[in-house]
Formats: sequence, C-alpha cells, structure tokens
Amino acid sequence: MARRFLERRRAPRRVADALPARRSFGVFWLAVLWLAVLASACASGRRAQVNAPRPERGAVVSEHPLATEVGVALLEAGGNAADAAVGVAMALAVVYPQAGNLGGGGFALWVPHGDPDRAAALDFREVAPLGLVPQHFLGADGRPDPELSLSSPFAVGVPGSPAGLEAFHKRFGRLSFREVLAPAIRLARDGYPVDPWLARDLRDPVFQRRLGASPAAAQLWYPRGVPLREGALAVQPDLARTLERLAELGAARGFYRGPVADALLRELGPGQGALAAADLESYEPRWREPSSGWFRGRLVLTFPPPSSGGVLLLQFLAVLDGFPLEADRQRAQEGRTDDGWTDPQLGFGARTVHWWIEAMRRGFADRAEHLGDPDHVDVPVAQLLAPSWIAMRRVSIGDRAAPDVRPLVLGGGAESTETTHLCVLDGDGNAVSLTTTLNSTFGSGRMAAGTGFLLNNEIDDFAIFPGVPNDYGLVGSAANRLAGGKRPLSSMTPTVVLDEAGAVRLVVGSPGGPRIISAVAQVLLRHVAYGQPIDAAVRAPRVHQQWRPTSTYLEPGWSTGLASALEERGHEVEIAARRWASVQAIAVEPGREPTVASDPRRGGSGAVVGREASRPSRPADGP
Ligand code: GLY
Repeated sequence: MARRFLERRRAPRRVADALPARRSFGVFWLAVLWLAVLASACASGRRAQVNAPRPERGAVVSEHPLATEVGVALLEAGGNAADAAVGVAMALAVVYPQAGNLGGGGFALWVPHGDPDRAAALDFREVAPLGLVPQHFLGADGRPDPELSLSSPFAVGVPGSPAGLEAFHKRFGRLSFREVLAPAIRLARDGYPVDPWLARDLRDPVFQRRLGASPAAAQLWYPRGVPLREGALAVQPDLARTLERLAELGAARGFYRGPVADALLRELGPGQGALAAADLESYEPRWREPSSGWFRGRLVLTFPPPSSGGVLLLQFLAVLDGFPLEADRQRAQEGRTDDGWTDPQLGFGARTVHWWIEAMRRGFADRAEHLGDPDHVDVPVAQLLAPSWIAMRRVSIGDRAAPDVRPLVLGGGAESTETTHLCVLDGDGNAVSLTTTLNSTFGSGRMAAGTGFLLNNEIDDFAIFPGVPNDYGLVGSAANRLAGGKRPLSSMTPTVVLDEAGAVRLVVGSPGGPRIISAVAQVLLRHVAYGQPIDAAVRAPRVHQQWRPTSTYLEPGWSTGLASALEERGHEVEIAARRWASVQAIAVEPGREPTVASDPRRGGSGAVVGREASRPSRPADGP
C-alpha cells in the first residue's frame, strides 16, 4: 500500500484518498488484505513494507539537553521512536517547565519507515470544560479582560498530555510505560541543575507575577521569594509522585481520577473555575488522519485540524510550488531584479520573499474564517487544499502587497515561548514529530497543591469573542468560537517529509504560536527547495505574516535592503526586536548519518545515537 500511495504522487491530498476507488466488493477484499498486512507488520515489530533505505543511526532533538539525553538512552536501550519521544516529552515536563508538561496538551505524528499509509496523528489537545462560557472572560466593566483567559482558573483546558502520551506509547511503543517514564521520575525526584534559560525566564517579572500568585508554584520556583538561579538544584518531589502514579496506575486512574484529579478540582472546580469531575473523567485523545501533500517531489505529512498549522503549511507549499522560485533566484543572482536585494546565503531576491509573505497572508486569512475543532465544526480542509483554490490563491499574488485579501468563500505581539517540539528518528527509520504546549510560557502559572505540574492557559487559543485578538494577535470567527467540550484551534505543526521511496528525509516542528507555521514552512522550503543544509536553514532569519495585523515582521539578521525592497512593494514592515520560534529538526540523506538541528534561538540540543550531543546556546541577554 505504501508503494501504491507513493506512486499516486500529486493526486491525493490525504493519505486516505490514496486508497483505490471505493467499490464495496473491492473494498471488502482490500480490507482483508490490509488487515493481513497490518497483522504481519505488528508481528514483525512494525517493520517497513518497502525497501526504502534506513538511516544509519537514530537521532533525537529537543529543547533541553537532559531531555535529549533521555531519548538517546531509550533508543540505546532498545526502544523505538515512540518510546523515545514519550520519554523525552515526560522529561521535558520535568526539566523544561516553561512548556514541557503534564498539565497541557499537544500533537504527535508517527511515521513508520517506508509506509506512510500507516502514519498516524494523535491529538491530545486540551478541551474546554463543559461549563465554560464566554461570559467567564468579561471583566467587572462587562468588557473582555485578556488576563482572565491567561491566568484565571477559567483559562485552563482539561489537560491532554497524560492520556495522550500514554495512548501514543501504548499503540506504538516497544518498552514498558514504566521504563519510559523512569528517567523523568528520576530527574524530578533527584533534581537537576537549573539551566540559563529557565533562570532567565524565572526572573521575568510577568512570569514571576503569574507563578508567584500560585502558592505551590511559588514555593517550588521562588523559595523564600527568590527565583531559582542557574545551577541551583531543582528537586520536584510532588511531580515525581504524580509521574509515579501515572506509571503505576495509568492516566485514567492515576491522573483523571483520584488524588491528582481531586487537587485539580480544588484549584479549578466549583467556586474557582468551571472544571467538573466529569470533564476530567471523559477526557480522550483523538486519533486523526494526517494531512498530506506533495512538494518538489517530497511527500509532506503533517497535522490536521484542530491544528491550523498542517493545512496552512500545505497551502503555503502548494502555492509556492507553482512559482518559478529557481528562475527568480537565477535572476536575482544575475542582478536582473528591480529590488536590488539578494539573499547572501541562497541568492534569492526580494520578490521571492514577497511571494512567501503573500502566501502566508492568504493562508492566515483562511485560518481566521474556517479553522476550528473538526469534532464541532465542518472544517473545509479539502476545499482549502483543492488545486482550484490553490491556483486562485497563486494567481491573486501580484507584484504588490495585498493586505485586503479575503478568506475562501464556501459555495455556500510579543511572542512567548509557551510550546516545545521534539523529533525522534530510530535506527529502523521510524519517525516521531511531537509538539506539546502550555500555551503561554509556564502556562497559566497555576499549580494545584501537591501535584507538582503547571497548568495550561490554552483557552486563550479560542476566538472567545470573535474579532477580538488573542494573546498572539490572532482573530477568529465562529469556527473557533469557545464551547464546552471543544478543542481550541492550534498552530502546532509537527511534520515529517518523505522521499518517493517512503524513507524519512526530514522531521521538523517548532514552538512559537502562529509563528510556528511560518517558521516550519520556511525551514522546510529552504531545505527542500533550495537544498540548504538543515542547520543553516534553521539558523536563517525568518519573516512572518498572519493576515491580521496586516504588518509583516522581519527577524533581526536579514541583510540590509530587504525591508525597503518589501516596502517598495507595499508591505508594512516591522523589524522585530527579538528572534522567534525554536525549530527542532532531523534531516536524513540516504546512506548517511542523520543531521540534527536544534534552533540556536533557544537552548536545546540534538544528538545522533553514539555521537556527542550538540551544545546548547546561552540566552543572549542571559547571566
Ligand atoms: N498554544 C499554541 C498553539 O497551540 O498554537
């Protein structure tokens, strides 16, 4: 089947579409055959179905060197990519409290070697408590109060990470859940030295105020009112106990019921927020069909709604696939452009960056109107990725900025660090791309007494009041309106790129709110379309455009002249004070060792099994 899917390149947009025509008799026998293939795959430890080249070694990359070490150790102990990914995510919940979590949620993409038809996407996004309504976010003056969706008990969605990571491991892992959780438990129980990034974030007055308002969080991170400093030992006995319960009893009994659930209800339940025991007990992660598309001969597998990231990434790539990127680069290199600006590394001109910006603008316009939780609203994914709509979007891009583009009509701020991404590739060639989030840095800052973990503020990702921008400046419509039991729209974009043989060539993702989408898209574009080495593609400066606000943001680091060349084309350009997002990536060339790239914008690290890990960078404004 993998072979068939890979042979039907360009036609299908979704993995399911790659199946043969649905004639009931044929489908019956196909299903029998499929089950037989699946059973044999399971029996053989989920081995590849085709003879795609395998990577020489496994690799892990994450936003904390200790978490990366955990992943490598699990691979060396015989674990596969799922074991390592879950172990890394659990370790991040201990050593990276800014975003690693038990109290948040995320998305995980599993891509087995050589067999994209068996790729799977697990949505363990947080869910709004059933009793939550927009009125909970009105201040005393009757107007929307942004702080209520960021730090009040109403800001917290039902956590998805415990159930999600357990379900992901249960379906794909090889080691026991206990073995996978053991390193995280050890790190929480024995402690680890605070790294310079955590020390910096704990000193930030906004986070200090939020964490300081929660007695359990304040006691842990601000003993005697003073932030833990770099090198101090962070010991988290409550978190160790919570993780032990999870390992021992599983998520349903060890987290969503019993003492942890009781503590969450005291913090967020009646009298405080809208959480009820039934919200916890009924939480379920959801298996979804990965979204897919072709770009420059590569198969891109990414996350479907409630992520907006996958749809926008595929739209962006599909629109750009029809532009003469190479010819424009040639013109720029030969000095045949009016703009007078050429990228010093890759040699493309300002017109190319203008195309990127306009493609992003159109994608984000569609996001605001159409994307939301597919269990609650019809998300027109097929229409948004239809060749006719992509072609219309492409021809609508002229030589000048178009801030007034409108979303598809159906036939009928300062960036926080909030989210974190990890990638694993195992020696068999299976890949996991996993993004997890608390939303803001340290989430809501709330920690229920005795639990040891921070709680998300994911409710701010809803369009609580349509048209009113959220913390990221994003606006939304009815599709992403707040409703009890609904998942807020996300920008997380865990992605895996395969070649025509079905071998994994790139595993990639990032934190960064809506800038996740533009960051992942640009790294993928640079690496796949321009052949830029992955570390250079990750390091390169980025541009971001999200429709509303209409400004286009340039990271510092672009060579001079780009901003004015874009302004000449009518773009409102703002040069950001700080760089954004933190792309984590593993690139694979057949017959070579994988290459890891952890974004130097933050302090992560990557390692190829049996090789030394990359050195994390220090914060520019650090101690
Ligand atoms: N909380 C960030 C996102 O899910 O997009």
